[in-house]
Amino acid sequence: MTSKAIPLPKLTGFSERNGNWYAEEVPLRDLAKEFGTPLYVYSRKALTEAYQAYDRACVDANGKRRARVHYAMKANSNLAVMDCFKKLGAGFDLVSGGELARALAIGADPKSLVFAGVGKSATEIAAALKAGVKCINVESIAELHQINRVATTLNCRAPISLRVNPDVDAQTHPYISTGLKGNKFGIAYHEVLKTYREASQLSQIDVVGIDCHIGSQITKTAPYLDALDKVLDLVAQLKKEGIVIHHLDLGGGLGISYGDESPPDITDFTNTLLNLVTERGFGYLDVVLEPGRSLVGNAGVLLTAVEYLKPGAEKNFCIVDAAMTELMRPALYEAHHGIVPVQTKALKSVTYDIVGPVCESGDWLGKDRALAIEEGDLLAILSAGAYGFVMASNYNTRPKPAEIMVDGEKVYIIRAREKISDLFSTETVLPN
Ligand code: LLP
Repeated sequence: MTSKAIPLPKLTGFSERNGNWYAEEVPLRDLAKEFGTPLYVYSRKALTEAYQAYDRACVDANGKRRARVHYAMKANSNLAVMDCFKKLGAGFDLVSGGELARALAIGADPKSLVFAGVGKSATEIAAALKAGVKCINVESIAELHQINRVATTLNCRAPISLRVNPDVDAQTHPYISTGLKGNKFGIAYHEVLKTYREASQLSQIDVVGIDCHIGSQITKTAPYLDALDKVLDLVAQLKKEGIVIHHLDLGGGLGISYGDESPPDITDFTNTLLNLVTERGFGYLDVVLEPGRSLVGNAGVLLTAVEYLKPGAEKNFCIVDAAMTELMRPALYEAHHGIVPVQTKALKSVTYDIVGPVCESGDWLGKDRALAIEEGDLLAILSAGAYGFVMASNYNTRPKPAEIMVDGEKVYIIRAREKISDLFSTETVLPN
């Protein structure tokens, strides 16, 4: 079996120099030695550059801000990652009471928070209203009424957008496509106007915006333009009816390159969308963008050590100390991540499946990779900054790994490795 000829993604925070991989100015092998493996490592420079690429398009030639980035924190909600974005001026897109608590914990301005999700509980809605979030993105008529009830109890007003399901095919993996009429997300396109009319009659509801998010790891601009056109048609109709919209939330979803994808450049992509908003006469709207993956995906790697090399009847296995518990994307979506030896060695290259120790055949991190490695070597799994640590689990009673942020030559532990004893410290056995 030959190795798949998938190239490595272009990275700004990680590089190979003289056969050694670095995070900014720090050799990855030094980090593994000091903090152990598996280990998540992030680059502040990569986070910053990705953010600035969005921000360049958010301000027009006259210096007027026409859009704001609300980082979709579900992609990586480590407080240090969020705080880096907050310091750059980001707001946040959240989807749970837990994410709200994290945003408040780093001192995010509640007015920079938008709250989405199909199943927000009454408790979560109350917490968001008490915090004073900018907007709750409503995903069903039932939820709209729930928000009105909660706001009545709290004697406050609830700022809302309706999340439109535009029935547009984002041309991505079916598990992460959200804008088709068969998906559970948003309000069906033909019901949106009627739902706005209903919302504007509810005693505690303030209609403030409109929202749309069509999926994730989208590598083309066309589906966004289709969705945006349809959403702007709705805004025009609402205006005629006297229902005023102040902001337009275009969601997130822009893809990254894991290897052979070529997504649009962030600044060009954002400009294209914002220019359409202006051309259609809606330049007065505040635009909200909710990128997640494209801000953090290529700003992180997962370091893992090779435990055993196991030649098999049909395949050779490289058994590493990371697993689907640390990085679930390959098991869940058959996602491809580049995998490189942290140090280049003059060994014969052999084709392996890179697998973890978890008791599932779905526990793999890479397939058919040609690697010149021996037991004890370190591998870096690339593009692991988004939907990596946040989707980690304790399956097989495996403690979650530590997370490190590198900033130039500086290294910070931003989350300590879990201890095995912590994993069952809240469990009790029966008395008899
Ligand atoms: N806004 C909303 C309402 C979302 O549901 C999402 C992602 C985003 C923004 C950010 O999308 P992004 O820019 O990160 O594509 N676990 C999957 C991805 C799930 C995305 C869920 N929603 C994966 O590992 O590929």
